[in-house]
Amino acid sequence: EYPIRILAIETSCDETSVAIVEDGQRILSNVVSSQIDIHKRFGGVVPEVASRKHVEGINYILEEALQEANLSLDEIDAIAVTYGPGLIGALLVGLSAAKAIAFAKGIPLIGVHHIAGHIYANQLVTPMKFPLIALVVSGGHTELVYMRDHLEFEVLGETRDDAAGEAYDKVARALHLPYPGGPHIDRLAKQGKPIIPLPRALMDEPYDFSFSGLKSAVINTLHNAARRSEVIKKEDMAASFQEAVVDVLVEKTFRAIVDKDIKHLVLAGGVAANSELRRRLTEKANELDVSLTIPPLSLCTDNAAMIASVAYYAYIKGKWSQLDLNSIASLPL
Ligand code: KG4
Ligand code: ZN
Repeated sequence: EYPIRILAIETSCDETSVAIVEDGQRILSNVVSSQIDIHKRFGGVVPEVASRKHVEGINYILEEALQEANLSLDEIDAIAVTYGPGLIGALLVGLSAAKAIAFAKGIPLIGVHHIAGHIYANQLVTPMKFPLIALVVSGGHTELVYMRDHLEFEVLGETRDDAAGEAYDKVARALHLPYPGGPHIDRLAKQGKPIIPLPRALMDEPYDFSFSGLKSAVINTLHNAARRSEVIKKEDMAASFQEAVVDVLVEKTFRAIVDKDIKHLVLAGGVAANSELRRRLTEKANELDVSLTIPPLSLCTDNAAMIASVAYYAYIKGKWSQLDLNSIASLPL
């Protein structure tokens, strides 16, 4: 029994990443090249710029991932690639590279859903136990997912407007903090008090989320205060906003856990870095005797290793893609 080595490519947003993973768990290399410094000055990701940067970088990053793993393409069993959801131009760069390698080497191509990848970052930490609930919170997504077994995803709820990370970034902008704003709000919130009243949306709906009203409430509160020459401490606004976001995320996650009698919870996506979310989820999980896995930050943000992990389970189940696979900007899980 020799190990299955999968090389994965991820270019769905502003990170160009190539990884090689053995048996869906052992990371041999995971090279991530972030374009964040380029997009920073625009206050967000510029899709056309992202595509161009992926084109410029992909071959070098591929080479680096092979070198780091000390392998040649001849020692790879399959090529995995994120084919959606994401920025269409950005996705196409990774998909084209993946197809070229799969065709040239005569090995299987496996298309992977980006959110499945985020969830499988957990598999790289410790084997997932099923059934489980996954809370995926990133700059582009907020999803509550039920998994009965490997590759069986049921989306219980998702955001109807802004993603949690997107709300963090927009509120940060209103507070004149740099992009991406999540880490800055997290830091400021620790020095403030959650004394400003802000809404918790859709609490009567079972599992869906909405964060755009919260974002607007923050902006309106700041404007009204400025008009009346009142001073609102940034720290207090950060703490109040963060509490509102975390209240909703924790409430709905554990609602799903209790409703479905689940014993395992996994967290994923860039917002998993949030200290208050981690603290509150850990507290509640302990209270209810639920196991909680949170990947290290390097695996929470976009990377190709998580894509390779999903692809391993697709590989052994024979769920391979055809070479006419296309990228899809809004792909359901
Ligand atoms: O997963 P990710 O790299 O991007 C997507 O795939 O969408 O997540 C990036 C998001 C950004 O919105 C960023 O502000 C947020 O994660 N983020 C945080 C923290 N660190 C990063 N949000 C809240 N608290 C943090 N500590
Ligand atoms: Zn992502």
